[in-house]
Amino acid sequence: MKQNFTLFSKNLLRWYDTNKRTLPWRGESDPYRIWLSEIMLQQTQAERVSHYYLKWVKRFPTLESVAQAKEENLLKVWEGLGYYNRCRNFHRAAKTVLKDYNGEIPCEFNLFRTLPGVGDYTASAVLSIGFGVPLPAIDGNIKRVMVRVLRIKTLTKYNYQRIKKLLEKSIDKNRPGDFNQGLMDLGNQICRPNQAHCYTCPLEVFCGAAQTDFPEAYPQPALPRIVPHYDVVVGLVWKKDRFLILKRENRNHLGGLWELPGGKIEFRESPEQALIREIKEECNVDVILGKSTEPIKHRYSHFSIEIRAIHCQLQNGMKVFSNQPSQWITPEQIIDYPFPKANHKLFTQINFETNIA
Ligand code: ADE
Repeated sequence: MKQNFTLFSKNLLRWYDTNKRTLPWRGESDPYRIWLSEIMLQQTQAERVSHYYLKWVKRFPTLESVAQAKEENLLKVWEGLGYYNRCRNFHRAAKTVLKDYNGEIPCEFNLFRTLPGVGDYTASAVLSIGFGVPLPAIDGNIKRVMVRVLRIKTLTKYNYQRIKKLLEKSIDKNRPGDFNQGLMDLGNQICRPNQAHCYTCPLEVFCGAAQTDFPEAYPQPALPRIVPHYDVVVGLVWKKDRFLILKRENRNHLGGLWELPGGKIEFRESPEQALIREIKEECNVDVILGKSTEPIKHRYSHFSIEIRAIHCQLQNGMKVFSNQPSQWITPEQIIDYPFPKANHKLFTQINFETNIA
C-alpha cells in the first residue's frame, strides 16, 4: 500500500515537471509573494490573478511596504479583482506580522492560521509552497480530482476526511508545494469539471471514476443556483464641476470602495422615486433630477444588477449629511479612487461634458 502512495506522488510530480502552468509566482521563494498569490487566488482563476499579482508586487515589493501602505492605495491596486475583504484582511495581517513577529511570517500552522484572511486552505498552501511544510492544501480543483480518485458521489464531512488522509499519506515530503500545485494544475488542465481527459492523466491507474464510463458524474452535479437580479439607480449629484461619492462600509459587499449615492429600485417604484428616496436616506438632502443614462448590466458572483445614473442638483442651500465618508470629485479624479466594476461601466456611459440637471 505504501508503494502505491509513493507512486501516486511520483507520477503526479513527473507530470507536473513537464506540464505545470507558467504563472508569475511559480518558482518564487519569497513567502510574502506566495502568501499574496494565495490570497488573490481565493475565489479567482489563476489566469486572471497574474496581472493583478504583477502590478501589486511592483508597487508593494515587501510585506513591510504593504503594512505601511494606506488601505485606499492597496484597494486601488486590487480594484477589479473583487472580494475586497481579502485585500483589507491582508493589510491587517501584514501589520500584525510586522508588529507581533518582527516582520517574519510565522511558519507554524497554528500561528499563521490565526492571521486575518488565513483559513485552513491558505495556511496549508502558503506553508507547503513557501516553507516546504508537508501539508495538503485542498482547494476546489483538488477536491474534484480526489473525489474522482475515490469515486465519491457526495462530498460529506466523512468523505472530506478520507481525502485528507489519503493526501497526508501521499504528499511528497521533499516537494509538498509542488505536490499540491501539481494536483491543482491537474484539476485545471486534465480533470476538468465537465470533461475528464483520463487518457492523459498521470493518476488514471489510481482513479475509481476513470474506470467508469462517465467519470464526470463524480461528484454528483449540484442543482443550478438561482442568481438574484436587482435594478439599481444612482445619482450624479453635482456641485459646480464636482460630483458626490460615498465610501461603502467595510462590512458590506465591495466594502471600502467608493460609489455614487443611490440603491435598489423597490417594487412599484420608478427609478426617479427610488433615487429621491435613497438620497434622502443616505445623505439627508432633497434633489432635483435631470437626465438619465442608459442602464448598464453587470454580473457579480452572487447577483446581477442593472444600473442607471441620473444627473441631480441639490435643492437650494442643502448640505449633504451622510454616515459614510463622502467626497466631491471632478470626473478626472475618478482614477484616484477604487470603484466597483459596475461603476466603471456606468462612468463610460456618462457624458461628463453635459452635467446639467
Ligand atoms: N489556486 C490556488 N493556489 C494556486 C496555485 N498556487 N497555483 C495555481 N492555482 C492555484
